[in-house]
Amino acid sequence: MATPILFVKFGLVLILLSLLAPKSDCAEYVLTPDDNSFLDDLQERAFRFFYEHSNPVNGLTLDRAFTDGRPPHGKDSHTNIASTACTGYALVAYCIGVERGWITRAEAIARTTATLTHFAHHAYNIHGWFYHWINQATGEREWKSEISSIDTALLLGGILTVRQYFAEDKNIVCLATEIYERVDFQWMLNGHKSWLSHGWIPAGVGWDNEPHPDKFLESRWTDYSEQTMLNLLAIASPKYPIDWKTWYDLKRNFTEYGGYKFMAAVPPLFIHQYSHAFFDYRNKRERYEQFNMDYFQNSITATEAQRAFFMSEETRKDFPTYSENIWGMTASDTAAGYRAWGAPPRDPEMNGTVVPCAAGGSLMFAPEITLSALKAMKSQYGESMGIYKRYGFTDAFNPDPRANWVNQYVLGIDVGITLLSAENLRTGNVWKWFMTNPEATNALKMVRILPSGTDPAPSSATTIKPIFALVIVLLELWHATSTM
Ligand SMILES: *[C@@H]1O[C@H](CO)[C@@H](O)[C@H](O)[C@H]1NC(C)=O
Ligand SMILES: *[C@@H]1O[C@H](CO)[C@@H](O)[C@H](O)[C@H]1NC(C)=O
Repeated sequence: MATPILFVKFGLVLILLSLLAPKSDCAEYVLTPDDNSFLDDLQERAFRFFYEHSNPVNGLTLDRAFTDGRPPHGKDSHTNIASTACTGYALVAYCIGVERGWITRAEAIARTTATLTHFAHHAYNIHGWFYHWINQATGEREWKSEISSIDTALLLGGILTVRQYFAEDKNIVCLATEIYERVDFQWMLNGHKSWLSHGWIPAGVGWDNEPHPDKFLESRWTDYSEQTMLNLLAIASPKYPIDWKTWYDLKRNFTEYGGYKFMAAVPPLFIHQYSHAFFDYRNKRERYEQFNMDYFQNSITATEAQRAFFMSEETRKDFPTYSENIWGMTASDTAAGYRAWGAPPRDPEMNGTVVPCAAGGSLMFAPEITLSALKAMKSQYGESMGIYKRYGFTDAFNPDPRANWVNQYVLGIDVGITLLSAENLRTGNVWKWFMTNPEATNALKMVRILPSGTDPAPSSATTIKPIFALVIVLLELWHATSTM
């Protein structure tokens, strides 16, 4: 009778060993050949958007295009509307395009030089900051838009990426350095100790037809959202830095859903993606006073929570077309216009719409769930609904029979985050290029976001307890089998 007991004991030893072994949070996802060919195609289409819809003379990239390749035209309100943030993504797209053989280095350098020359010498700037919307042909302000701090920061993400990728080109390096160093982050505080303003508008007649003087926007970056690269670039600014402690004045608000808990100011998933496409938050943790956030893990959790939300019975009973692979909500076009929506919690307007760039922008965090989602969307609805076209996925679609809707546009920022996230998943290249900027690396050090290994993170203490409880249970089992 000793043999079965021995087996049980052997099993217990194995369980104990596996519990005590140092546990890595994220087993590296290994891309299959099929994953790679899917991503090759998706990325090349995304790249094509940026190459085809940027003006070769000034580099300005359209905000959007039709899924079949046409630019907005005629009476379309988006005709000739370029976006400063899109242009930042375009700069990174050129680097990826060279690396993957879709354009020559010389072609990419020509585009990059045109873009940087425009922003260094021709684009209107105030204290180094740029407008949000610009006319692609004339370079003039559009839509009475604001001088935008977040859009300028996203442009800087691209500008600092090309500064490193084309480091052999002295002109590119000089222009990029000039543009970054000119940005006066202290001015954008508009007198506040820590919170940067969303932007500034020149004197004129506003949307309400009322005349107004020059003014800063009232909104400020007060909490954890898509803008952390803005805060970090400000802290590391060579000429106009703001205090690193301002990082710890950002409010921290958590969302809890189905056992997941993550920091987020608002529900759209893009807030966990944009700054993360540039700043490499992997394997790092805050080490300052009581703060110990792992920002990369936070984005993973936000992605997992969103998928869990769409898979939940509660969601599916109202919208049965959502499933483990058909999900995703982040700011997007909808049948009712643009919405800065997301989940969890449930958005009152949720109606079965799927926004592919929610999963696309999270490829770099949780490939095992996001890649399978994108592949399933393409195979189920690519042909049947026409959701996968010249630039990859449409911005949004709704397969629910009650709606059966496909958006006719792609949006540059959504195509862009998908492209960068896919590249980071595959090679880590955007992180590598961007983080070669000494300012980027210094910024993380200055705010005390340091390699997680340097010091055991205080939070690990909380995971010890349940493990000890299990060890005790197993030891008791051991004792029980010994006395059998
Ligand atoms: C923070 O979260 C709480 C609870 O989720 C919410 O009531 C509150 O409005 C949030 N605060 C901010 C500033 O978003
Ligand atoms: C949701 O879908 C319905 C049905 O197609 C549509 O009438 C409504 O405008 C949609 N709302 C949003 C926010 O997409």
